[in-house]
Amino acid sequence: MIWIIGNQGMLGKELSRYFDEAGLPHVGSDREVSILEPSALRNFTKKHRPDWIVNCSAYTAVDKAEEEESSAFALNRDGPAYIAEAAADHNIPLIHISTDYVFDGSSAEPLAEDAATGPQSVYGRSKLAGEEAVRKITERHFIIRTAWLYGEFGSNFVYTMLKLMESRDSIKVVNDQKGSPTWARELALLISVIIGSGSTAYGTYHFSGEGECSWYGFAREIYRLGREKGVLTSECEINPCPSSEFPTPARRPRYSLLCKEKVKREFGLEIPDWKDSLAEFFSSADIPLNAV
Ligand SMILES: NC(=O)c1ccc[n+]([C@@H]2O[C@H](COP(=O)([O-])OP(=O)(O)OC[C@H]3O[C@@H](n4cnc5c(N)ncnc54)[C@H](OP(=O)(O)O)[C@@H]3O)[C@@H](O)[C@H]2O)c1
Repeated sequence: MIWIIGNQGMLGKELSRYFDEAGLPHVGSDREVSILEPSALRNFTKKHRPDWIVNCSAYTAVDKAEEEESSAFALNRDGPAYIAEAAADHNIPLIHISTDYVFDGSSAEPLAEDAATGPQSVYGRSKLAGEEAVRKITERHFIIRTAWLYGEFGSNFVYTMLKLMESRDSIKVVNDQKGSPTWARELALLISVIIGSGSTAYGTYHFSGEGECSWYGFAREIYRLGREKGVLTSECEINPCPSSEFPTPARRPRYSLLCKEKVKREFGLEIPDWKDSLAEFFSSADIPLNAV
Protein backbone atom coordinates (compact mmCIF):
# COMPACT_ATOMS: atom_id res chain seq x y z
CA MET A 1 0.00 0.00 0.00
CA ILE A 2 1.33 3.41 -1.01
CA TRP A 3 0.30 6.53 0.89
CA ILE A 4 0.11 9.66 -1.26
CA ILE A 5 0.21 12.73 0.96
CA GLY A 6 -1.13 15.83 -0.81
CA ASN A 7 -3.31 13.76 -3.14
CA GLN A 8 -5.44 16.77 -4.15
CA GLY A 9 -2.53 18.75 -5.60
CA MET A 10 -1.27 18.73 -9.19
CA LEU A 11 1.29 15.97 -8.70
CA GLY A 12 -0.78 14.10 -6.11
CA LYS A 13 -3.71 13.77 -8.52
CA GLU A 14 -1.48 12.71 -11.39
CA LEU A 15 0.15 10.11 -9.17
CA SER A 16 -3.21 8.78 -7.95
CA ARG A 17 -4.36 8.35 -11.54
CA TYR A 18 -1.09 6.72 -12.53
CA PHE A 19 -1.26 4.23 -9.64
CA ASP A 20 -4.89 3.46 -10.56
CA GLU A 21 -3.87 2.70 -14.14
CA ALA A 22 -0.89 0.64 -13.01
CA GLY A 23 -3.01 -1.28 -10.49
CA LEU A 24 -0.84 -0.17 -7.58
CA PRO A 25 -2.80 -0.11 -4.32
CA HIS A 26 -2.75 3.32 -2.74
CA VAL A 27 -4.46 5.57 -0.23
CA GLY A 28 -4.38 9.33 -0.26
CA SER A 29 -4.79 12.23 2.08
CA ASP A 30 -4.64 15.98 1.82
CA ARG A 31 -5.55 18.77 4.26
CA GLU A 32 -7.94 16.49 6.22
CA VAL A 33 -4.87 14.65 7.55
CA SER A 34 -2.73 17.72 8.09
CA ILE A 35 1.01 17.23 7.79
CA LEU A 36 1.26 19.76 10.62
CA GLU A 37 -0.36 17.33 13.05
CA PRO A 38 2.04 14.53 14.00
CA SER A 39 -0.70 12.58 15.80
CA ALA A 40 -2.91 12.60 12.69
CA LEU A 41 0.01 11.30 10.62
CA ARG A 42 0.75 8.59 13.21
CA ASN A 43 -2.90 7.49 13.36
CA PHE A 44 -3.14 7.30 9.56
CA THR A 45 0.05 5.26 9.46
CA LYS A 46 -1.27 2.82 12.07
CA LYS A 47 -4.61 2.48 10.31
CA HIS A 48 -3.38 1.95 6.74
CA ARG A 49 0.07 0.45 7.36
CA PRO A 50 1.60 1.79 4.14
CA ASP A 51 4.71 0.19 2.63
CA TRP A 52 5.72 3.49 1.03
CA ILE A 53 4.95 7.15 1.66
CA VAL A 54 5.08 9.74 -1.13
CA ASN A 55 4.89 13.33 0.03
CA CYS A 56 3.39 15.58 -2.67
CA SER A 57 2.04 18.14 -0.22
CA ALA A 58 3.77 21.50 0.03
CA TYR A 59 3.38 25.24 0.24
CA THR A 60 3.84 26.09 -3.45
CA ALA A 61 2.78 29.75 -3.75
CA VAL A 62 6.28 31.00 -4.51
CA ASP A 63 5.58 34.75 -4.45
CA LYS A 64 3.10 34.66 -1.56
CA ALA A 65 5.71 32.82 0.50
CA GLU A 66 7.74 36.04 0.67
CA GLU A 67 5.12 37.48 2.99
CA GLU A 68 3.98 34.21 4.56
CA GLU A 69 7.34 32.89 5.66
CA SER A 70 6.08 31.04 8.71
CA SER A 71 3.38 29.20 6.73
CA ALA A 72 5.89 28.26 4.04
CA PHE A 73 8.36 26.91 6.62
CA ALA A 74 5.61 25.09 8.50
CA LEU A 75 4.45 23.21 5.39
CA ASN A 76 7.80 22.80 3.64
CA ARG A 77 10.07 22.11 6.63
CA ASP A 78 8.03 21.11 9.69
CA GLY A 79 5.45 19.01 7.80
CA PRO A 80 8.10 16.93 6.00
CA ALA A 81 9.89 16.50 9.34
CA TYR A 82 6.72 15.08 10.94
CA ILE A 83 6.13 12.84 7.93
CA ALA A 84 9.74 11.62 8.13
CA GLU A 85 9.27 10.86 11.84
CA ALA A 86 6.13 8.82 11.13
CA ALA A 87 8.00 7.01 8.34
CA ALA A 88 11.05 6.34 10.51
CA ASP A 89 8.91 5.06 13.42
CA HIS A 90 7.45 2.36 11.17
CA ASN A 91 10.53 1.83 8.99
CA ILE A 92 8.66 2.98 5.87
CA PRO A 93 10.64 4.41 2.93
CA LEU A 94 9.70 8.00 2.11
CA ILE A 95 9.71 9.69 -1.30
CA HIS A 96 9.79 13.46 -0.84
CA ILE A 97 9.54 16.02 -3.65
CA SER A 98 11.75 19.09 -3.76
CA THR A 99 12.72 21.77 -6.23
CA ASP A 100 15.39 23.47 -8.33
CA TYR A 101 14.67 26.61 -6.28
CA VAL A 102 17.14 25.31 -3.67
CA PHE A 103 19.86 26.54 -6.08
CA ASP A 104 20.90 30.14 -6.68
CA GLY A 105 20.70 29.94 -10.47
CA SER A 106 24.28 31.09 -11.08
CA SER A 107 25.50 27.78 -12.56
CA ALA A 108 26.46 27.53 -16.22
CA GLU A 109 26.16 23.75 -16.39
CA PRO A 110 23.49 21.19 -15.40
CA LEU A 111 23.25 20.95 -11.63
CA ALA A 112 24.24 17.66 -10.01
CA GLU A 113 22.70 16.49 -6.75
CA ASP A 114 25.76 17.54 -4.76
CA ALA A 115 26.05 21.02 -6.29
CA ALA A 116 26.15 23.82 -3.74
CA THR A 117 22.70 25.09 -2.78
CA GLY A 118 21.85 28.75 -2.31
CA PRO A 119 18.12 29.43 -2.36
CA GLN A 120 17.13 32.95 -3.36
CA SER A 121 13.57 32.98 -2.01
CA VAL A 122 11.58 32.05 1.07
CA TYR A 123 10.05 29.15 -0.88
CA GLY A 124 13.52 27.87 -1.86
CA ARG A 125 14.87 28.20 1.68
CA SER A 126 11.83 26.44 3.16
CA LYS A 127 12.11 23.56 0.66
CA LEU A 128 15.83 23.20 1.40
CA ALA A 129 15.07 23.11 5.12
CA GLY A 130 12.53 20.35 4.41
CA GLU A 131 15.13 18.31 2.53
CA GLU A 132 17.57 18.70 5.42
CA ALA A 133 14.95 17.59 7.94
CA VAL A 134 14.06 14.50 5.91
CA ARG A 135 17.74 13.52 5.52
CA LYS A 136 18.37 13.95 9.23
CA ILE A 137 15.33 12.02 10.43
CA THR A 138 15.15 9.02 8.13
CA GLU A 139 17.86 7.25 6.21
CA ARG A 140 15.22 5.52 4.06
CA HIS A 141 14.43 8.52 1.87
CA PHE A 142 14.37 9.45 -1.78
CA ILE A 143 14.37 13.22 -2.27
CA ILE A 144 13.47 14.06 -5.86
CA ARG A 145 14.21 17.59 -6.98
CA THR A 146 12.18 18.57 -10.00
CA ALA A 147 11.51 21.79 -11.93
CA TRP A 148 8.97 23.59 -14.10
CA LEU A 149 6.25 21.05 -13.34
CA TYR A 150 3.03 21.00 -15.34
CA GLY A 151 0.17 18.56 -15.66
CA GLU A 152 -3.52 18.12 -16.20
CA PHE A 153 -4.57 19.03 -12.67
CA GLY A 154 -4.19 22.44 -11.09
CA SER A 155 -2.83 25.72 -12.35
CA ASN A 156 0.53 25.70 -14.06
CA PHE A 157 2.51 27.52 -16.76
CA VAL A 158 0.93 25.64 -19.69
CA TYR A 159 -2.61 26.54 -18.66
CA THR A 160 -1.64 30.13 -17.80
CA MET A 161 -0.05 30.58 -21.23
CA LEU A 162 -2.99 29.03 -23.09
CA LYS A 163 -5.40 31.37 -21.34
CA LEU A 164 -3.27 34.43 -22.14
CA MET A 165 -2.70 33.35 -25.75
CA GLU A 166 -6.40 32.82 -26.32
CA SER A 167 -7.38 36.19 -24.89
CA ARG A 168 -4.64 38.49 -26.23
CA ASP A 169 -3.13 39.48 -29.58
CA SER A 170 0.40 39.46 -28.22
CA ILE A 171 2.21 38.47 -25.04
CA LYS A 172 5.73 38.84 -23.65
CA VAL A 173 7.52 35.93 -21.99
CA VAL A 174 10.86 36.00 -20.20
CA ASN A 175 13.79 34.75 -22.17
CA ASP A 176 16.62 34.93 -19.64
CA GLN A 177 15.74 32.03 -17.33
CA LYS A 178 16.77 28.57 -18.49
CA GLY A 179 15.40 25.23 -17.41
CA SER A 180 13.56 22.16 -18.56
CA PRO A 181 9.81 21.54 -18.24
CA THR A 182 8.66 18.40 -16.44
CA TRP A 183 5.38 16.64 -17.20
CA ALA A 184 3.89 15.46 -13.89
CA ARG A 185 3.09 12.13 -15.54
CA GLU A 186 6.79 11.46 -16.22
CA LEU A 187 7.52 12.17 -12.56
CA ALA A 188 4.70 9.81 -11.57
CA LEU A 189 6.34 7.15 -13.73
CA LEU A 190 9.71 7.67 -11.99
CA ILE A 191 8.05 7.37 -8.57
CA SER A 192 6.37 4.11 -9.59
CA VAL A 193 9.68 2.80 -10.96
CA ILE A 194 11.41 3.55 -7.65
CA ILE A 195 8.64 1.83 -5.71
CA GLY A 196 8.42 -1.11 -8.12
CA SER A 197 12.18 -1.67 -7.95
CA GLY A 198 12.13 -1.83 -4.15
CA SER A 199 15.36 0.13 -4.37
CA THR A 200 17.42 0.90 -1.31
CA ALA A 201 19.63 3.38 -3.17
CA TYR A 202 18.41 6.13 -0.87
CA GLY A 203 19.44 9.72 -1.38
CA THR A 204 18.77 12.78 -3.49
CA TYR A 205 17.91 12.63 -7.20
CA HIS A 206 17.29 15.20 -9.91
CA PHE A 207 14.50 14.75 -12.43
CA SER A 208 13.04 16.90 -15.23
CA GLY A 209 12.41 16.58 -18.95
CA GLU A 210 15.45 16.28 -21.22
CA GLY A 211 16.65 19.26 -23.23
CA GLU A 212 16.51 22.87 -22.25
CA CYS A 213 14.64 26.06 -23.03
CA SER A 214 13.70 29.45 -21.65
CA TRP A 215 10.16 30.28 -20.50
CA TYR A 216 9.84 32.02 -23.86
CA GLY A 217 10.90 28.85 -25.71
CA PHE A 218 8.44 26.84 -23.60
CA ALA A 219 5.66 29.32 -24.42
CA ARG A 220 6.40 29.16 -28.16
CA GLU A 221 6.06 25.39 -28.12
CA ILE A 222 2.80 25.63 -26.13
CA TYR A 223 1.52 28.05 -28.77
CA ARG A 224 2.63 25.84 -31.68
CA LEU A 225 0.92 22.79 -30.20
CA GLY A 226 -2.11 24.78 -29.10
CA ARG A 227 -2.66 25.99 -32.65
CA GLU A 228 -1.88 22.61 -34.20
CA LYS A 229 -4.35 20.79 -31.95
CA GLY A 230 -7.03 23.46 -32.37
CA VAL A 231 -6.97 24.40 -28.70
CA LEU A 232 -6.10 27.98 -29.56
CA THR A 233 -8.62 29.51 -31.94
CA SER A 234 -6.88 32.83 -32.62
CA GLU A 235 -3.40 34.06 -33.41
CA CYS A 236 -1.14 35.51 -30.76
CA GLU A 237 2.30 37.05 -31.16
CA ILE A 238 4.81 35.80 -28.61
CA ASN A 239 7.71 38.10 -27.85
CA PRO A 240 10.78 37.53 -25.70
CA CYS A 241 11.62 39.91 -22.86
CA PRO A 242 14.05 40.10 -19.93
CA SER A 243 12.81 39.13 -16.46
CA SER A 244 13.36 42.75 -15.38
CA GLU A 245 10.12 43.51 -17.28
CA PHE A 246 8.20 41.18 -14.92
CA PRO A 247 9.41 41.93 -11.40
CA THR A 248 8.11 39.37 -8.91
CA PRO A 249 8.29 39.35 -5.09
CA ALA A 250 10.34 36.12 -5.13
CA ARG A 251 13.60 35.88 -7.07
CA ARG A 252 13.68 33.00 -9.58
CA PRO A 253 16.87 31.12 -10.44
CA ARG A 254 18.20 32.19 -13.87
CA TYR A 255 19.49 28.70 -14.52
CA SER A 256 17.53 25.65 -13.37
CA LEU A 257 18.84 22.87 -15.54
CA LEU A 258 19.17 19.66 -13.52
CA CYS A 259 21.67 16.92 -14.35
CA LYS A 260 19.73 13.62 -14.56
CA GLU A 261 22.64 11.20 -14.94
CA LYS A 262 22.24 9.75 -11.44
CA VAL A 263 18.53 8.92 -11.75
CA LYS A 264 19.00 7.51 -15.26
CA ARG A 265 21.89 5.30 -14.15
CA GLU A 266 20.27 4.08 -10.94
CA PHE A 267 16.81 3.33 -12.37
CA GLY A 268 17.65 2.58 -16.00
CA LEU A 269 15.40 5.40 -17.17
CA GLU A 270 15.16 6.99 -20.55
CA ILE A 271 13.79 10.47 -20.08
CA PRO A 272 11.93 11.96 -23.05
CA ASP A 273 12.79 15.36 -24.45
CA TRP A 274 10.53 18.00 -22.90
CA LYS A 275 9.06 18.81 -26.34
CA ASP A 276 7.98 15.19 -26.89
CA SER A 277 6.37 15.07 -23.44
CA LEU A 278 4.57 18.33 -24.07
CA ALA A 279 3.26 17.00 -27.39
CA GLU A 280 2.01 13.87 -25.62
CA PHE A 281 0.39 15.99 -22.94
CA PHE A 282 -1.50 17.89 -25.63
CA SER A 283 -2.53 14.64 -27.30
CA SER A 284 -3.81 13.03 -24.13
CA ALA A 285 -7.52 13.54 -23.47
CA ASP A 286 -9.05 17.00 -23.88
CA ILE A 287 -6.74 18.50 -21.34
CA PRO A 288 -5.86 21.87 -22.82
CA LEU A 289 -9.38 22.35 -24.15
CA ASN A 290 -10.65 22.26 -20.57
CA ALA A 291 -8.09 24.80 -19.56
CA VAL A 292 -8.99 27.71 -21.79
N1 LIG B 1 4.62 23.16 -9.39
C1 LIG B 1 5.89 23.29 -9.75
O1 LIG B 1 6.24 23.95 -10.76
C2 LIG B 1 6.97 22.59 -8.96
C3 LIG B 1 8.30 22.68 -9.40
C4 LIG B 1 9.29 22.02 -8.66
C5 LIG B 1 8.95 21.28 -7.54
N2 LIG B 1 7.65 21.23 -7.12
C6 LIG B 1 7.34 20.44 -5.93
O2 LIG B 1 6.51 19.37 -6.34
C7 LIG B 1 5.62 18.99 -5.27
C8 LIG B 1 4.20 18.94 -5.78
O3 LIG B 1 3.86 20.23 -6.26
P1 LIG B 1 2.38 20.57 -6.79
O4 LIG B 1 2.52 21.66 -7.78
O5 LIG B 1 1.68 19.30 -7.13
O6 LIG B 1 1.75 21.20 -5.45
P2 LIG B 1 0.22 21.63 -5.18
O7 LIG B 1 -0.59 21.47 -6.41
O8 LIG B 1 0.28 22.97 -4.52
O9 LIG B 1 -0.25 20.53 -4.14
C9 LIG B 1 0.07 20.56 -2.78
C10 LIG B 1 -1.05 19.93 -2.01
O10 LIG B 1 -0.73 19.93 -0.61
C11 LIG B 1 -1.93 20.31 0.08
N3 LIG B 1 -1.70 20.78 1.45
C12 LIG B 1 -1.57 22.06 1.87
N4 LIG B 1 -1.46 22.11 3.20
C13 LIG B 1 -1.55 20.83 3.66
C14 LIG B 1 -1.52 20.24 4.94
N5 LIG B 1 -1.38 20.97 6.05
N6 LIG B 1 -1.63 18.89 5.03
C15 LIG B 1 -1.77 18.13 3.92
N7 LIG B 1 -1.81 18.64 2.68
C16 LIG B 1 -1.70 19.98 2.53
C17 LIG B 1 -2.49 21.39 -0.80
O11 LIG B 1 -3.81 21.75 -0.46
P3 LIG B 1 -4.32 23.24 -0.82
O12 LIG B 1 -4.29 23.35 -2.32
O13 LIG B 1 -5.69 23.29 -0.24
O14 LIG B 1 -3.36 24.19 -0.19
C18 LIG B 1 -2.39 20.71 -2.15
O15 LIG B 1 -3.46 19.83 -2.40
C19 LIG B 1 5.88 20.01 -4.15
O16 LIG B 1 6.78 19.47 -3.24
C20 LIG B 1 6.54 21.18 -4.87
O17 LIG B 1 7.36 21.93 -4.01
C21 LIG B 1 6.65 21.85 -7.82
